[in-house]
Amino acid sequence: MTARLLSGPALNLGAEPYDAHRQRLGALPGKAERAGLIPAIEAAGLLGRGGAGFPVGRKWASVAGRSKGQAIVLANGAEGEPMSMKDRVLMATRPHLVLDGVELAADAVGAKKAVLYIGSEHAGARVAMEAALRERPRVVDTRIVTPPVSYAAGEESAAVRFVNKGDPRPVTVPPRPFEKGIDGKPTLVQNVESLANAALIARYGAAWFREAGRAETRGTALVTVSGVTTPGVLEVELGTTLADLAAWTGGTASVGSPVLLGGYFGSWVAGPDAWQMPLDPAALRARGLAFGCGVVGFMGDSACGVAATARIMDYMAGSSAAQCGPCVYGLRAVADATARVATFAAHPDDLRRLRGWTESLVGRGACRLPDGTVGLLRSALTVFETDWAAHTAQRRCQVRA
Ligand SMILES: Cc1cc2nc3c(=O)[nH]c(=O)nc-3n(C[C@H](O)[C@H](O)[C@H](O)COP(=O)(O)O)c2cc1C
Ligand code: SF4
Repeated sequence: MTARLLSGPALNLGAEPYDAHRQRLGALPGKAERAGLIPAIEAAGLLGRGGAGFPVGRKWASVAGRSKGQAIVLANGAEGEPMSMKDRVLMATRPHLVLDGVELAADAVGAKKAVLYIGSEHAGARVAMEAALRERPRVVDTRIVTPPVSYAAGEESAAVRFVNKGDPRPVTVPPRPFEKGIDGKPTLVQNVESLANAALIARYGAAWFREAGRAETRGTALVTVSGVTTPGVLEVELGTTLADLAAWTGGTASVGSPVLLGGYFGSWVAGPDAWQMPLDPAALRARGLAFGCGVVGFMGDSACGVAATARIMDYMAGSSAAQCGPCVYGLRAVADATARVATFAAHPDDLRRLRGWTESLVGRGACRLPDGTVGLLRSALTVFETDWAAHTAQRRCQVRA
């Protein structure tokens, strides 16, 4: 484990005050040094931590190029993924690192205004960020906006729409927020962990950032680990393996047992090889997987993967922002079919139809909610192949028998 974002006082002490933060990390670089920040972030190879893994420096450059001093920064702390806790932990314990990132981003892209977009269920994080805003000089005109609990509210076009109109549903893009976002201005939507990383790169440089990392993608990342003796949020070097994570957190699952990687938008993986693969965005992408927002859920040996997948499908169907037909009706049909299989009441063609939906629902919504959901289903149909068959044909569970 390598503490960078989470170095400093113990997390159970709560928010690090401004004075302590400045004493520990020093002041932010001055105007002259900040001029090289976008190239430094690009050289560091920092990828966004909100799920998609888009290069942060490239996004800052795109917004800066359109800004004309009018851009707006939206720090995304919606964290609607049910298995993720890392953003709320970061905001609740290191609020000034996130605000440093906001200040630097605003400077770099030419923004005078910023929005802290914090999921309304993350009350501790919101209180810490409010207090932190009061503690420090107000360099950027910053306000807090709290979207309702919803998976899709954290999607960037939904975030912009909620700030503009109070409606947290995604919209069809283009134009994307970096072109036309809050108040019609170019808007930099950046995950709070990405911004906190930028604040460290500004102080210590790209070479320092790249010192951490065990595989191709450099740096550290926050991960939320569950299904272990000590679940919670850890900071790890990218490239750490599942086996290492299990060892550090007291995982009791046997090596190679199923793991949900990336949360409800992610994939099931299993097998000793999977436990040895590096948690590295580039290496995972090459295997058709995603690091996503850093969720690692060890399922254990005695849980049924079909039942677990059915619960997730039901949650995602309920999370549809109910504006695109294929998402509303398609995800409900997926959820109903998986529930029937999980409860040994499958219709004869349920498995065939489930396989079909993993293809036919891709790209059918205004946002990627259907894509993420059926991507997880696709992985479940592979990893738990014999379990689906046993649930359907023999009407019994091999795991819970
Ligand atoms: C359905 C959906 C939900 C999302 N929820 C979040 C979220 O809660 N927090 C977040 O930072 N990004 C979320 N994203 C990703 C954002 O759209 C956006 O890519 C991200 O905030 C950009 O920041 P980053 O480049 O630093 O990751 C979500 C995307 C989708 C498709
Ligand atoms: S795909 Fe689903 S969640 Fe996304 S905008 Fe359409 S209805 Fe809403």
